[in-house]
Amino acid sequence: MDTLTALNTRVSVARLTEPGPSADQVRQLLAAAIRAPDHGMLRPWRFLVLEGEERERLGDIMEWRLLRRQPEADQCARDNIRNKALRAPTIIVAVAEITEGHKVPAWEQVLAVGAAVQNIMVAAHALGIGAMWRTGDLANDETVKARLGFADKDQVVGFVYLGTPAGALKNLPDEQPETFLRELPRGRDE
Ligand SMILES: Cc1cc2nc3c(=O)[nH]c(=O)nc-3n(C[C@H](O)[C@H](O)[C@H](O)COP(=O)(O)O)c2cc1C
Repeated sequence: MDTLTALNTRVSVARLTEPGPSADQVRQLLAAAIRAPDHGMLRPWRFLVLEGEERERLGDIMEWRLLRRQPEADQCARDNIRNKALRAPTIIVAVAEITEGHKVPAWEQVLAVGAAVQNIMVAAHALGIGAMWRTGDLANDETVKARLGFADKDQVVGFVYLGTPAGALKNLPDEQPETFLRELPRGRDE
């Protein structure tokens, strides 16, 4: 698939099944990720690749967080949240490891990792792998960050769920780029 076709036809795939990407494909996704633009060459991206039983450790973190917020949560709620980590054969957790006090501000470092995630999304599509970028509350919880091995200053940018699409890909939205065009406002002196 050529680059423009991949960019123009990518869709998220929420329902994913086995098999997940091969080790070689995961490496290709990460290789695409690290070609994202990065102001200052800080290389802020860090990735956790969770497959097989490793995903259950993410499920442990999800359940632990649920119990911290809702100690009365019943077994059904606990199972539901744990199962979220098993929604796909492979999960890549993308984290921005922020260099503090640098002239490149933190938001630009987070954007660079966002661009890396988008590279993963497009590369996955080009390889025929289904992908869904999720964040949710989990991404903004400091204690979750610590359990993933990161500091408060760092930012979880996405949980990228990867696998084989469980059905047909959804239709592309009928949108035109012109919808999003704006005119530069005229200056006060004009
Ligand atoms: C930073 C970011 C976080 C997202 N988090 C979630 C999420 O937690 N749950 C969700 O259902 N969709 C989430 N989405 C949206 C989906 O990944 C997806 O882009 C959206 O459903 C639109 O589908 P499309 O990619 O096929 O256009 C997120 C997207 C971005 C860019």
